[in-house]
Parts: sequence; C-alpha cells; structure tokens
Amino acid sequence: MREQIEKLRESAIKAVWKAKTLDDLRVAETHYLGRKGELTSLLRSLADFPEKDRPAAGEVANRAKIEVEREIGKKRAVLEAEEFQGLGENEWTDVTAPGARPPEGHLHLTTQAIGEVTGIFERLGFTRVRAPEVDWDYYAFQALNMPPDHPARDEWETFFVDLPAGRQVHQGKMVLTPHTSNVQVREMERGELPIRIVCISKCYRRQMDISHVPMFHQFEGLLIDKQVSVTHLKGVLDYFAREFFGPGRVTRLRPFHFRFTEPSFEVDISCAVCKGTGKSGALRCRLCKEGWLELGGAGMVHPNVLRAGGIDPQKYSGFAFGWGVERTAMMKSGVVVDDIRTLYKNDLRFLNQF
Ligand code: DAH
Repeated sequence: MREQIEKLRESAIKAVWKAKTLDDLRVAETHYLGRKGELTSLLRSLADFPEKDRPAAGEVANRAKIEVEREIGKKRAVLEAEEFQGLGENEWTDVTAPGARPPEGHLHLTTQAIGEVTGIFERLGFTRVRAPEVDWDYYAFQALNMPPDHPARDEWETFFVDLPAGRQVHQGKMVLTPHTSNVQVREMERGELPIRIVCISKCYRRQMDISHVPMFHQFEGLLIDKQVSVTHLKGVLDYFAREFFGPGRVTRLRPFHFRFTEPSFEVDISCAVCKGTGKSGALRCRLCKEGWLELGGAGMVHPNVLRAGGIDPQKYSGFAFGWGVERTAMMKSGVVVDDIRTLYKNDLRFLNQF
C-alpha cells in the first residue's frame, strides 16, 4: 500500500513539474486531485481497509496529497510569473507616445449659418419661433393673398401631401412648406401684438440643379406694430448685412412683386469684391457684374394678409422678408461653394472645411 502511494506521489509531482503552461498544470491537478482523480480515489478506498491499518495508511496518503498540493502551488507561481513577464514584453505600451486623436465633428455649414442668423436677429429683439413644415395650403398660399389656382403659386414648385383617408379636409390641401412665409398668418392668429419674430425652417420644392436642392432652409422675419415703415425694414436689413457679411456691406431694395407684400422688393447686397461699384479696374466685376448680389424678397405686409390674420390694417402695419439660408451662407466672403448640392452630399472632405 505504502509503495502504491509513494509511486502515485512521485508520478504526480513529475507531472506537475512537466507542465509548461497553466492549462497543463490544471490538467495534471485534475488528474490526481480532481473529484475522480487518482489520489482522491485512493484516499477514498481507504475506507475499505482493515481498521487497524487504516490510520497509518491514511496518514501516508494524506501527507502525499498535501505534498502534491504544495508542489502544484509552487509550480503555479513559477508559471504565473513567466506569463506575466511575457505580457510585459508582448504588450508593453509606450506611455510617452503621442495619442491618436479621435475624429472630431462640428456643426454643418447650414446649422452654423442658422445659429448666426438667429443671433443677429435676437440682438434686434426678434424671437425665433417655429411653424409646421407640413402645413395647410391655406397658410402657405391662400392666407398670403394667393387664392386657389392663382398663377403666382406656380413659382413655388410645391409638393402636395396626400391626407390620410377619411381625414376631414377643413383647410384644403396639405403641402410640404415651399417657403417659411406660412409662419406669418399663424403668428398673427396667436393674437399678440406687436409681433417681432424670425422663423427658420426647412422648405421643399420640386427643383434640383446647381443652385437648388429639393430640401433647403429659409428664414423669415416678420415685424408688425403701429407706424412701421419701409425705413425700418431697410435699417433691419442693413444691420443684418453688416453683421452677417461684414462691415461696409449694405443692402439695396429693388421694386418687385409678391402677392403678400405691398410694396414688394428684392433685396440685394453690395458685392464684397468690387464694393458695390461693379468695376474691377477698367473691367466689370467678375463676381457681380453690376455691384450687387441678389439676396431675397421683402416688403410691407399686404393688408389682405393682415386681415387674414385678424389684424386691422388701419391700425397696424408691418414688414416681412425671407430668403434661403444656404444661399446666404454661400455668399459669405471666403466661402467658395459653386454647387449647392455639395452641401448635402455628406462628403467629409468638403464638410470639414467649414
Ligand atoms: N416667401 C418668398 C419666397 O420664398 C420670399 C419672401 C418674399 C418672403 C417677400 C417675405 C417677403 O416675407 O415679404 O420666395
């Protein structure tokens, strides 16, 4: 019996020291000391020994077990130290190396422009409000003095929206707003005067070419109070031109026609290159040809529009203006974008430049 235990002890210790990895060691441990291990089974079989031999045999077997366990512990420490050292050699980190810069995003050119426009008008006391981007034909056209089938509507290449079946059509058709002017009568209907708001939101038109995308942004200003005149409009526009485009830039109002303003104007801004002279030495300015660049539309709110919003045109008057955010951003000095569609192609090589 003693001999058998001795043999097992020796072969166990040999196996332990033969282990090259922690996994090998675990296998050896299970083989001898696991639940069905050789040494474990031997210890268990002691129960069948004659009672007088049992204590001596038990002692020898137990000592063997303790010794094997001790050797396993020693070997484990050696293997662990080896593994740890290998880790240091294979996976060392140079903490002094410069870090890898994570990609850093920024706001889109259009979003930046929206923020700037908002800031400029806020400084003049305008509040930014919102109007629906899917709205009734009534607010987009009819209330703006453009009855159904009026030919002026053709200029707004409008997307019409199908109403859910069974929905009551109480204000005609629905549209994807082709301009931000739908905010005007909506704001008047709130019934609070005076009004001094800007609305900046998405607009949609069935157009796509070098200067048009089907989804774009406009901003609309509306001021209604007692005794508002064109000079107020001019002052606000000039302030905007200076703040957004830089000192020295001024606006020019050119007579035009809109159904919802009377009188109506196109707003031009003096060219940054020729400073409004239209000349470059003896030649014509290559950018503007005549000293001015077209910005957008404006005018004094038409009495019919005031009436649609429940405001008495005898007591109140106001001005409105509106134009494209992308176009305005692209006209800023230093921004050279020759195709509006590049703004929405999501090409980082382009977007990262702004
Ligand atoms: N809504 C017009 C458009 O999209 C622009 C415009 C013109 C807005 C005159 C106005 C305005 O507020 O008074 O072309």
